[in-house]
Amino acid sequence: MSKLAIRGGKKLRDNLFPGYIVMGEEEAQAAYDVVKSGVLSKFLGCWDPDFFGGPQIQAFENECKEYFGVKHAITVNSNSSGLICALGALGIGPGDEVIVSPFSMTISASSPLFYGAVPVFADIEEDYFCLSAAAVEKKITSRTKAILAVDFFGQPYDVDGLNALSKKYNIPIIEDNAQGPLATFKNKYAGTLGTIGVFSLNYHKHIHTGEGGIIVTNDDDLATRCQLIRNHAEAVVDPMGYKGSPVNLIGFNFRMTEVEAAIGRCQLKKLKDLVLIRRENVQFLEQQLKGIDYLIMPKVRENCTHSYYGHAIRFKEEIALINRKTFVDAVIAELPATELRETEGVLMGVGGVKPLYLQSLYQNRTGIGRLGYPFNDPNNKSEMNYQKGICPVVEKLHFQELFIHELMRPGMSKQDLTDVANAFHKVAENINDLRE
Ligand SMILES: Cc1ncc(COP(=O)(O)O)c(C=O)c1O
Repeated sequence: MSKLAIRGGKKLRDNLFPGYIVMGEEEAQAAYDVVKSGVLSKFLGCWDPDFFGGPQIQAFENECKEYFGVKHAITVNSNSSGLICALGALGIGPGDEVIVSPFSMTISASSPLFYGAVPVFADIEEDYFCLSAAAVEKKITSRTKAILAVDFFGQPYDVDGLNALSKKYNIPIIEDNAQGPLATFKNKYAGTLGTIGVFSLNYHKHIHTGEGGIIVTNDDDLATRCQLIRNHAEAVVDPMGYKGSPVNLIGFNFRMTEVEAAIGRCQLKKLKDLVLIRRENVQFLEQQLKGIDYLIMPKVRENCTHSYYGHAIRFKEEIALINRKTFVDAVIAELPATELRETEGVLMGVGGVKPLYLQSLYQNRTGIGRLGYPFNDPNNKSEMNYQKGICPVVEKLHFQELFIHELMRPGMSKQDLTDVANAFHKVAENINDLRE
């Protein structure tokens, strides 16, 4: 048995894992063509045919509509701005509550604050890490105006449970699908499972345009409202003759550029293969890790497919008889970093995101402006409980059980994946050393 690297032994592998490189000649050519054309963005923030963007934006949006099988696709410059558009389009405002997940990227919870609404955290599912429908139902009040469901790590949210609540209480669902493109529920794509869905195209996502996002919906008015909020709504509604609700029609510049759209069109063509490789890699790795009985592999929800943005594994300390961090640190010590992300170290870590309600934003109720709006608004009737303990499942997963790695991304060869698995086995075989 070779000595563990963390105990001064030789590392299992020194040379870097291959980077996740999804840009090729096609993207380079597409970007070059746009730059040569001189038209890097054609958007105009006024009522004009160019209000909807230039030829690459229009083409990319049409291709996304077709690809995901939706009536409307609206490009934006990030998923974050897409979530803000979606909340604005739904008319969210002061006095409202939006039920959010504590286990996600920060904007999935903070976005309602930009409209003066209160984020209300509901706990997540132990097996799938998405919002628990039972927990959500307990948080619904007369002020609840949306549920922001996240397809976390690439797993579709609980569509049966949450869509039933949406129907029962007449509350729309915003689906944050930054992490789950091409995941499916009953053969329907994640992102299209709620009232309005938002994808991310940032550098770390399955496909990307550097930064970027796509909003999808089948609702005509919501689509128009998102287009307005994306692009200076207040200057456009009157000349456009918009007849819908005036609420929240104050716009931003959330526009994507022509270069990004041109790259996005090439990337969309690669999405299927990239997700399939992730699934294969996860399957291979899980097969190799069988037999380490204190590692619980992520489940895939019934009727769903997963797109594995992250591979989230539960560690059972009571079986391993050592703590999670000791084990994961020992695995990390055996492995190298990944090309293009060298400074991040080994792409593996314990806990994932700290439950979002523990951020000082919620703990200190700082919010917007000197008075900390909406938390400290005297008219605010919301309960606003952000104490430790409000979501025990996420706290158990974050503080005790879960660790996450990204070493299943396309680019990893079978040998690379085998090295990852061998690092786990080496640590498992030497676990007695770690117990001492
Ligand atoms: C679940 C989730 N939501 C939202 C975002 C924000 O995406 P963007 O960087 O495109 O704004 C991310 C990005 O990491 C994410 O993972």
